[in-house]
Amino acid sequence: EDEAFLEAFQERIDREEKIEPNDPMPEGYRRTLVRQISQHAHSEIIGMQPEGNWITRAPSLKRKAALLAKVQDEGGHGLYLYAAAETLGVTREELVEQLLQGKAKYSSIFTYPTLSWADIGAIGWLVDGAAIMNQVPLCRCSFGPYARAMIRVCKEESFHQRQGYEIMLTLCNGTPEQKAMAQDALDRWWWPSLMMFGPHDSESQHGDQNMAWKIKRFTNDALRQKFVDATVPQAEFLGLKVPDPDLAWNEEKGGYDIGPIDWDEFRSVLKSGGFCGRDRIRNRRRAEEDGAWVREAAAAFAEKQATRQAD
Ligand code: ACO
Repeated sequence: EDEAFLEAFQERIDREEKIEPNDPMPEGYRRTLVRQISQHAHSEIIGMQPEGNWITRAPSLKRKAALLAKVQDEGGHGLYLYAAAETLGVTREELVEQLLQGKAKYSSIFTYPTLSWADIGAIGWLVDGAAIMNQVPLCRCSFGPYARAMIRVCKEESFHQRQGYEIMLTLCNGTPEQKAMAQDALDRWWWPSLMMFGPHDSESQHGDQNMAWKIKRFTNDALRQKFVDATVPQAEFLGLKVPDPDLAWNEEKGGYDIGPIDWDEFRSVLKSGGFCGRDRIRNRRRAEEDGAWVREAAAAFAEKQATRQAD
């Protein structure tokens, strides 16, 4: 790729023009987008499992209806995102195959187990809260199909975050046992939620280039900081304690300082699939096999319709 082309492309980005699928683009831009969008899609699909685990055990009909809707939304997000990735010249089948073979990355957060009902509250509040922090700026991402997909996704994530926080609020206003359950969930989900934003900027291999290409609009550390600043007062309102002895308000920067993140845990989750990684992929494979007849029937039906129309 010659310099002039790369420069002209960067100028388009700097003018805030959206890049569309048929536009010429540097190979690296295409590659990093396929990587990020497909990892994002896989995260949504795998993310259905930890919460799906509680659908049959939701404590009331109202809670069950909300949780069902939320898990279905995640499935929908995965499908928009696969469709956005397909505009870059890969097929959904290829991407799904990479996931089923355990070759594709998905968000570290979805390898953790959901041990109690309070975890459903904590996931909505913290995990979807973190997802919103990260995804609202992606609505202004330079690649058109990704940016547009993010608009609806973010509206739905906002509902997910509220339903999670409301579960936490109900538990915190309940019996001492319920409040203890909420605290235990916060204790287990806090640090993994901070890890969702990815490595520190100094370690983020794609960070600088993706900021320049406006795929990312904020760095990993900047988003993590925004999340901490927004979430600590919410924990205080619930009467819960954030499990970080070093957490302190820093007047000068106008934000919180936090203690060190356990990057060994993060790296081990990425490497070995963490606590539930193997189950997540095994369940996904089983779902793929169980659903094969539906795909075959849909393809046969489409073929029949096409033949009829041709007649
Ligand atoms: N879990 C798993 N892998 C991660 C995580 C994480 N939380 N954070 C970073 N990584 C991986 C990156 O994918 C990259 O791996 P690769 O080179 O093998 O592809 C590596 O660690 C280095 O990280 P960065 O250079 O910082 O990568 P990047 O610039 O892509 O930033 C980020 C990572 C912030 C996750 C970015 O890709 C992003 O914004 N993605 C879209 C949002 C998303 O995927 N959210 C998923 C969870 S939210 C949800 O599904 C509800």
